[in-house]
Amino acid sequence: MKILVVGSGAREHALCWAISASPLCDTLYCAPGNAGIEEDAICVPLNVDNIQEITQFSIDQSIDLVVVGPEGPLVNGLVDNLSSAGIKAFGPSAAAAQLEGSKSFTKEFCTRHNIPTAAYARFTSCDEAISYIRHQGAPIVIKADGLAAGKGVTVAHTEAEAEKAVIAALRDQAFGLAGNEVVIEEFLIGEEASFHVLVDGKTAVPLATAQDHKAVGEGDIGPNTGGMGTYSPAPVIDQRLTQTIMEQFIQPTIKGMAEEGNPYKGVLYAGLMITPNGPKLIEYNARFGDPETQVLILRLKSDLLPALMACVDGQLSSFDLRWDSASAVCVVMAAKGYPGNYKKGSVITGIDTLKDNDNIKIFHAGTTRSSEGQIIADGGRVLGVTALGADISLAQRNAYLAVDKVYWPEGFFRRDIGWRAIKK
Ligand code: AMP
Ligand code: GLY
Repeated sequence: MKILVVGSGAREHALCWAISASPLCDTLYCAPGNAGIEEDAICVPLNVDNIQEITQFSIDQSIDLVVVGPEGPLVNGLVDNLSSAGIKAFGPSAAAAQLEGSKSFTKEFCTRHNIPTAAYARFTSCDEAISYIRHQGAPIVIKADGLAAGKGVTVAHTEAEAEKAVIAALRDQAFGLAGNEVVIEEFLIGEEASFHVLVDGKTAVPLATAQDHKAVGEGDIGPNTGGMGTYSPAPVIDQRLTQTIMEQFIQPTIKGMAEEGNPYKGVLYAGLMITPNGPKLIEYNARFGDPETQVLILRLKSDLLPALMACVDGQLSSFDLRWDSASAVCVVMAAKGYPGNYKKGSVITGIDTLKDNDNIKIFHAGTTRSSEGQIIADGGRVLGVTALGADISLAQRNAYLAVDKVYWPEGFFRRDIGWRAIKK
């Protein structure tokens, strides 16, 4: 088979690494890829947001399956466009990807299908939003309706903070069109949990559990990032909770989407808050988590490619995935300043010394290669140093032994990835 993976992050590196290992894969392309992905795939300089260009490339190269990593092209209809051109693509249609692309859509969907979520109201008027905030009080959560590159959510601890967030979105258009409507939500208290399932339109197969650390600072403090590290399994999600999540969230969602004419195919990633009153949905993502994928892929024993094909072909009901009983930890190395302003262009060394270790895999996110062959930092999140171990503590130890072999003075990372699981 000829496969094209779309994206350039460590999630896509992990997907390429797994797909390239499949006996079914003859040729693997990645658009646009990065300096790490180059080792597993042929990188082609296509823009992930140029749907026409990606479709044309897929036609020209007779691609058998396109695997879409990031949410942007999904929400913009890449899978629809490829399907119309007769090319199989893993990921939801634009209509189904609204589960991630529109917070308002998802909130209304949850109401229609009795899916537990935080109480909410929707606003396009700044004055009405502000009077609602004054009536509700803080803490309260303000969310831009559309995709805002992970920056559209403000967990406001004071009314003033909440009002500022509303003004930024609705009046100052800080998120462009994505912020023309805001969802204002009840603040939920509890431990967060993420849950991934593969879906073929009718059937959902859960993946192993994984949990990320979103905050930039140790102890989970400071501004939110795309994720500073992950661990798998996540002890917060036990067998019983898995069943509850499948029954109360995943199954009604798959059934509801199909009934409404938008069958969901691809991977669905639920962000949940485990509150004293049971789990509640924080958000849906229409794609694999990043850096959740890095730990999941390292633990996946089954061939990923037939599982992705089964989603596209509606054949998931007979599928079973096998997972390594070992645990995995991924430590993200990011450029100093991230998630705020950071510099690109510094040199990273030491990665090669880690190549021959089966328990360690370095997935590249924002990297390029200089003409002299050096690895150059080219983004905010730059490397996902991922390791296996008999339990989370040992996986964590292996991950940090590897991190300490990477020489990159312009980067930083958290030293405590996995602490919640280890404490349990
Ligand atoms: P989201 O982009 O929707 O995942 O939100 C980013 C983060 O904001 C989540 O991971 C939570 O930590 C936090 N958050 C979102 N909604 C709520 C809520 N209703 N109550 C408390 N925290 C929330
Ligand atoms: N790790 C969070 C996300 O992928 O959205």
